[in-house]
Amino acid sequence: MTPELKSHPVRPNLDLELPAGTMRDLVDKALERIVDHISSLPGQPSADVEGCEALARSLVEPLPEHATEYPALLDLLFKELIPKGYNTAGPGYLAYIPGGGLFHSAVADLISDAVNRYVGVWIAAPGLAQLEANVIRWFSTIVGYPAESRCILTTGGSLANFTALVTARRNLLPEDFLSGTLYASDQVHHSVVKAAMLAGFPARNVREIATDDTYRIRLDHLEESIESDRRDGLRPFLVVGNAGTTNTGAVDDLNGLADVAERENVWLHIDAAYGGFFMLTAQGREVMRGIERSDSITLDPHKGLFLPYGTGSLLVRDGDALRRAHAVDASYLPPMQQDPDLIDFCLYSPELSRDFRGLRVWLPIKMHGIEPFRRNLEEKLELAAWATEELRSIPGVEVVAEPQLSLVAFRVTRPGLDTEAENEFNRRLVVQVNARKRVYLTGTMLRGKFVIRICVLSFRTHFDRMEAALEDIRAALRDLN
Ligand SMILES: Cc1ncc(COP(=O)(O)O)c(C=O)c1O
Repeated sequence: MTPELKSHPVRPNLDLELPAGTMRDLVDKALERIVDHISSLPGQPSADVEGCEALARSLVEPLPEHATEYPALLDLLFKELIPKGYNTAGPGYLAYIPGGGLFHSAVADLISDAVNRYVGVWIAAPGLAQLEANVIRWFSTIVGYPAESRCILTTGGSLANFTALVTARRNLLPEDFLSGTLYASDQVHHSVVKAAMLAGFPARNVREIATDDTYRIRLDHLEESIESDRRDGLRPFLVVGNAGTTNTGAVDDLNGLADVAERENVWLHIDAAYGGFFMLTAQGREVMRGIERSDSITLDPHKGLFLPYGTGSLLVRDGDALRRAHAVDASYLPPMQQDPDLIDFCLYSPELSRDFRGLRVWLPIKMHGIEPFRRNLEEKLELAAWATEELRSIPGVEVVAEPQLSLVAFRVTRPGLDTEAENEFNRRLVVQVNARKRVYLTGTMLRGKFVIRICVLSFRTHFDRMEAALEDIRAALRDLN
């Protein structure tokens, strides 16, 4: 007997499938706002945080039972919510590690979300899975990894670092892994420490290795620490090196790290979330010599390839090691591919169902070729070098970390002030610079000293914005004196 339906299945107000005209209208109306927003980015404030807390609290609401008109929702987004906070897509965002926001990728997301094909298993969307496989092959080529390497696209660097750590653990340690120890410099990104914690290692298994005066890992300390742990019956299994730290952009001696890793028979992971795509430039290749000798690398396309947030990647030199760490069978899944050229991503990654991230990388690279990406990265290197020279010419400015890539760290010293007072002066300086709203800078603590960072990475940041940054630093210093 057919059950009696409580509501008629085609009642239009229950139907979530939109008519063709409505689909067009939704996109057209959103596009109008998006284009206005992007066109006005250079004139928008670099940050606007006033009244943010009240705004956030005013938005709390229960599950809506009733519909709201689409234009009102767009108004809420574009007039009230998007303008608040840090303008991370704007040219003045020189804070933390800037992201990107290529419009092509937004279009790619619209396509991939709308067609909603399934790329986690190869047979479900073989052509689309192959586009993503091409993207990751390109990444392997950029870092100099061999054909048997494999890569996955993640949501960001944190998940890539986590996956690398689990992969190393599962390949090198027994199931009872708590004697395993891992090593990273005191400059490593906190996502590595978090990854260790999530992967089941207590904090005491994570060794923090000192850095030299350029904030690069001390190889002698690293080796001593590994050897001392071995003498104590522990199992050193992983060293994490940096190719562009968040604090100062420091790149460790990657060849030196690879030598240690080879001698000590440990996995070498390089966190190149920020620095990695500078391998497209001659300067980057020089600074990151030896990166191809690592076992795995984190690269963040949402940093150095200018993509929107939500795109990281992990490359593993021995693709089978990545597969060994992740492959699990299930009777309800379709048969997996045996041909090494045809990749079932779910065998290499913690994820099964996920968005089709490959398209957001593939579309802009295919539309332009890689050259504009390379030129943009070269420009960022030049801008950081230029800013460094300008900073040096300001009396009292100490360049604390020369840019190895596109990040310079500096502080202002004042005769007669102790370190704490100088820290306070530099904190106030950042606030004063940011108050001008043309650029947004952040600081960090380095060995007890507060330093200011300028990180140039957005494809929207060009020379005019760097000039503005320097003008605002000089003006803020005048105001503080
Ligand atoms: C060096 C480094 N590693 C890892 C990460 C974490 O990446 P994500 O924020 O994409 O998770 C960052 C973020 O800025 C970073 O700078």
